[in-house]
Amino acid sequence: MCGIVGAVAQRNITPILVEGLKRLEYRGYDSCGIALHIEGKLERSRSTSRVAELEKQVAEAHLEGFTGIAHTRWATHGAPASHNAHPHFSRGRIALVHNGIIENHDELRDELRAAGYEFESQTDTEVIAHLVDHLYTGDLFETVQLATRRLTGAFAIAVFCRDEPHRVVGARRGSPLIVGLGDGENFLASDALALAGTTDQIIYLEEGDVVDLQMQRIWIVDANGRQVAREVKTVHAHTGAVELGPYRHYMQKEIFEQPRAIADTLEGVESITPDIFGDDAYKVFKKIDSVLILACGTSYYAGLTAKYWLEAVAGVRTDVEIASEYRYRDSVPNPNALVVTISQSGETADTLAALRHAQSQDMQHTLTICNAATSAMVRECALAYITRAGVEVGVASTKAFTTQLAALFLLTLTLAQVKGRLPEEREVAFLKEMRHLPAAITAVLALEPQIIAWAEAFARKENALFLGRGIHYPIALEGALKLKEISYIHAEAYPAGELKHGPLALVTEEMPVVTVAPADSMIEKLKSNMQEVRARGGELYVFADGDSRITSSEGVHVIRMPEHYGLLSPILHVVPLQLLAYHTALARGTDVDKPRNLAKSVTVE
Ligand code: M6R
Repeated sequence: MCGIVGAVAQRNITPILVEGLKRLEYRGYDSCGIALHIEGKLERSRSTSRVAELEKQVAEAHLEGFTGIAHTRWATHGAPASHNAHPHFSRGRIALVHNGIIENHDELRDELRAAGYEFESQTDTEVIAHLVDHLYTGDLFETVQLATRRLTGAFAIAVFCRDEPHRVVGARRGSPLIVGLGDGENFLASDALALAGTTDQIIYLEEGDVVDLQMQRIWIVDANGRQVAREVKTVHAHTGAVELGPYRHYMQKEIFEQPRAIADTLEGVESITPDIFGDDAYKVFKKIDSVLILACGTSYYAGLTAKYWLEAVAGVRTDVEIASEYRYRDSVPNPNALVVTISQSGETADTLAALRHAQSQDMQHTLTICNAATSAMVRECALAYITRAGVEVGVASTKAFTTQLAALFLLTLTLAQVKGRLPEEREVAFLKEMRHLPAAITAVLALEPQIIAWAEAFARKENALFLGRGIHYPIALEGALKLKEISYIHAEAYPAGELKHGPLALVTEEMPVVTVAPADSMIEKLKSNMQEVRARGGELYVFADGDSRITSSEGVHVIRMPEHYGLLSPILHVVPLQLLAYHTALARGTDVDKPRNLAKSVTVE
């Protein structure tokens, strides 16, 4: 999603800004731009192509300067077109980039139009640029403080002014913004990753902060305009570009990295102890009487899976909420609940807002399962478990999901232990099964050739149904999400028992029905549901275990999973669904790693 980089230095900063944008590219964007202060004027270049194209444009135009800002945009207000790309200018004096959404932009636009401002774009961002120009007092830092008080909504902005050549001002509310400290130079970015290789001295700005960035100093004020000192952290953000190696796409690479990612996530866990979630975890786990999981998308499905584990193994009542819905409804807060956020990026705006909503309702026992150790989610939760999936570049979440599941199973075992429901021999047996997961996933990955054969048939379809029962229902949901987001095939998932209550009407010989069918306690029920599909001509694609006793026949295609894995089976059964989505998308020729309209990190509401 949108990304910001800014710099004030005594050297040409163009390469730093371009490199920063490249590092943020994986988040997804549809246009990009850069603006510099050059010989008393504002100069800019914008592109609706990739950052590499912008880099060429900038080189051809010889855009070099000491002060500037750059941006990758994921369209919200206004189409992905050059005139909507950031930076936005106001009257040749103000240049500004923005992440987030300004909710009162219509009313401000009317006011600014009445004051004589003309608008070139449909964006809410241009409104902020004109507002800063309109309120300009001769001091950009002071002006930005005045302007941000007029804004409703979420934003991180970076702005500079033609008349103050060695200054960039940043401000944040609701969207992340960090300061990078250098020697005689300072930087701004929406993510420390953008500055990897430039500086590792990072300040995470807090809600409402405004920062004055100059070459030799930085100055921060809080939402009330009081000067504040913020902690400087040494952040070792990942520097190397992520190599594709022998793979065609990052998604494929990331699917195949799962054995390693799970092993890394479990590394160092010799036995179950609350400390792995943080120093105070034991006290907190002892106190809580339920779990409330908040997450979005794939992370939400990880939460749904965990509900089965937490209730069955730990005996702890668990609610799972879609973060963007939870914050807007009147729920009944429980101060004794453990609030668990799940997020790959740790920056998802909806999940962060849901967490803050829970905190504002006096729910202070918070824990995150997150893949980004320096993210806002980790900073804002009292306890954390960092999954070690590594950088996930593909928009479709794969290794992030299975490592989340591994971490959630550890949480389940830990709560079970604290609640006195985990006898030692069970703990030992579960840990042994967890340690075997990398090998078990490797065996599942070997099914790829059989899945490729199925994908060819899927590529010709426009609809698909996914069925699962019990703990594999969330896995069916995740399989359908994977297929729709990268192959653009309309896919829906149902708990198989629901079929006859409506969706069965959709089943014809044109409808492929993917069924997750491990030999668990639900298998006989599931077989009856499969009969219902066959009786209507629907074609079944079944992922079964050796002992499910489901065999291939006309209209029934079966791939056998190598092992039956009991409670941990969802972690294995999602892998062939990821491969099916990947190879179907490949056969349809879609942009697998950057599917249309989607972003990796969803930092707007
Ligand atoms: O970074 P998060 O885990 O918070 O992201 C949540 C969702 O946006 C994400 O899982 C999304 O659904 C994926 N693209 C699905 O593959």
